[in-house]
Amino acid sequence: MLTLSGTEHQQDRQTPRMYATSPSDVLEALRICARDEVKLLIHECGLEDYDHIHMLEDLSFWLMDTFVTYRLRVNDHETVEIETPVLLRPAKSEDVEGMGRLAAEAFAGFKGHFHNDLRLERSKCDSMYVEWARNSYHDKSLADHVAVAEAGGSLVGFTTARIRGGEVWQIVLSSVRPDFQRRGIYEALVAYCINWAKSLDLKWMQGATNVDNYGVHGVCRRFGFNIFGSGHIFHKWF
Ligand SMILES: CC(C)(COP(=O)(O)OP(=O)(O)OC[C@H]1O[C@@H](n2cnc3c(N)ncnc32)[C@H](O)[C@@H]1OP(=O)(O)O)[C@@H](O)C(=O)NCCC(=O)NCCS
Repeated sequence: MLTLSGTEHQQDRQTPRMYATSPSDVLEALRICARDEVKLLIHECGLEDYDHIHMLEDLSFWLMDTFVTYRLRVNDHETVEIETPVLLRPAKSEDVEGMGRLAAEAFAGFKGHFHNDLRLERSKCDSMYVEWARNSYHDKSLADHVAVAEAGGSLVGFTTARIRGGEVWQIVLSSVRPDFQRRGIYEALVAYCINWAKSLDLKWMQGATNVDNYGVHGVCRRFGFNIFGSGHIFHKWF
């Protein structure tokens, strides 16, 4: 599937981008990028296909991130008892600005594929997450559900999800305010979402994270998620 200007980046119109999500798309994507003056091609591929990876290297694609995907069979999972001092609840429209502020703090300098690409402006990489967080409440192409954590009346964490194929709760974007990190808030949010997904009778919960995002790996292991896949993200500039 080829996607032009992924939804989460539409605010940056100066850098038209294109996504190619399967190996067979890449040559077609290169042709379209040249024809339509796309500046940046983003391509995700599995770790196992070395012939493909070497082809990308020959074509001057640059490695920007490596991620792991986890899956949990929700309908086999017990309801999780959550002991946490924070209040967990579905987001409301009043949370939108707070989610943006939280993302600004939590994702500043985040080591994802955008920030790892030094040709992208730092401030734009940061603000992309802010817009993404802010838009997730209203824009159904970004998220179907948003859960938040609140402490003392302030928003201290959130996680967004899309429901895929009527059976998968896909964790999309999560963050915890830096001064509240490492207190189990992300773990509590994931527990809350497992219960939410169970209440919707969904079969799976799935999430992906950078290979060095150790906090997220720890939480996934704790709840019994299994590794489901892995991949590299490459960028090619024209
Ligand atoms: C990743 C993130 C959501 C974790 O939130 P958190 O509330 O600090 O996580 P928790 O306190 O629930 O931590 C869960 C586990 O991870 C560990 N952990 C948390 N941050 C860690 C880090 N930076 N390095 C190593 N371990 C970490 C905790 O110690 C805990 O394990 P433990 O219970 O065995 O001690 C938060 O760090 C964040 O917002 N980061 C920036 C945005 C981001 O990375 N989002 C996720 C993208 S996939």
